[in-house]
Amino acid sequence: MLLVTGGAGFIGSNFVLGWLDYSDEAVVNLDCLTYAGNLRNLDAIAGDARHLFVRGDIRDDELVESLLREHAVRAVVHFAAESHVDRSIHGPEDFIQTNVVGTFRLLEATRRHWATLSAGDRADFRFVHVSTDEVYGSLSPSEPPFTEASPHRPNSPYAASKAAADHLVRSHHHTYGLPVITTHCSNNYGRFQFPEKLIPLCIHNALAGRPLPIYGDGRQVRDWLHVDDHCAAIRRVLEAGRPGETYDVGGGCERANLDVVRTLCKVLDEERPRDDGRSYADQIEHVKDRPGHDRRYAIDAGRIAASLGWRPAETFETGLRKTVAWYLAHQDWVADVTSGAYREWIQRQYA
Ligand code: NAD
Ligand code: TYD
Repeated sequence: MLLVTGGAGFIGSNFVLGWLDYSDEAVVNLDCLTYAGNLRNLDAIAGDARHLFVRGDIRDDELVESLLREHAVRAVVHFAAESHVDRSIHGPEDFIQTNVVGTFRLLEATRRHWATLSAGDRADFRFVHVSTDEVYGSLSPSEPPFTEASPHRPNSPYAASKAAADHLVRSHHHTYGLPVITTHCSNNYGRFQFPEKLIPLCIHNALAGRPLPIYGDGRQVRDWLHVDDHCAAIRRVLEAGRPGETYDVGGGCERANLDVVRTLCKVLDEERPRDDGRSYADQIEHVKDRPGHDRRYAIDAGRIAASLGWRPAETFETGLRKTVAWYLAHQDWVADVTSGAYREWIQRQYA
């Protein structure tokens, strides 16, 4: 059995659904359902005996330890986090609590469970820590992409909290021998992404006739990876990754934010033309930049390609089309997650 944390969030829910398509091994899904967690993401496996959802906090180490023991868990896949940079700028405390304290308690509970296993089960056990390229800081336009050897240079409270978690995970391997593996992935997009992040926010605003907010000059570069490709990479790491190793995961797909949003507008123009016949690109508006905004992220995914044979299946264009089609077909999901507290966030961030 796997213990997945944060499996009601964007990537976690895609991972759980993908896992149960691929394997009969059951999943305990531990998620405390913050604003970013949504059980509707898991509707397709409602009633599936291979999925056990537990509402709880990763900081509750007694709960975690009892789940690990009762379900004889053989691997933890750790997604649970506060994940939005802009929210970390307004209020970093939750990021420290979940990403740092939560990861620490999860590691400790896992270490206690792991110590009770037989030597063979201890060797086979895995703790996969899902981290981000943002821990490496920002690249200039001419620098080579990040690799696993790049130093941690986090710039936002979010990135700093993930970097702290990375170090704790690493220390649990070096000091206690816990078989951990860390992945650093670039920007994901796809179904179930909360519409506070660039792509789903712009789809939502475009359809509502609202401005598409571009921070600063919009020339900041991100590497984009479809969430299904990220989930496939994590499955591969779980299956064949080397304990103590880190793997950088990326789409080989660097795009400036302005180009991402323009491409998105073109797809929307084709799929759901505006009533007045004009392009959604007319709704693009430059707004105040994010404080400390990282200029460029890029990932060299050579290690995971060479050692585990993982490569992304989607290009940005195919992945983006699928994503737009999903959001157009699931406006009820969007309406559900954009009520109440979402409006307060948008008011605060973009007023
Ligand atoms: P998300 O914000 O959509 O989901 C996070 C989930 O964790 C939510 O379901 C939330 O309820 C849960 N959670 C938060 N705090 C918790 C706690 N204390 N206890 C239990 N559950 C808790 O995030 P996401 O975009 O799916 O990201 C998942 C992971 O992948 C994160 O660790 C993130 O740092 C990492 N990551 C994300 C991206 C990206 O582009 N989204 C890229 C690289 C890495
Ligand atoms: P985001 O989706 O928040 O991911 P991250 O900050 O983790 O990279 O943002 C992606 C890029 O888009 C980032 O450079 C910030 C920018 N951005 C905007 O220009 N406008 C927006 O409204 C948002 C949410 C992001």
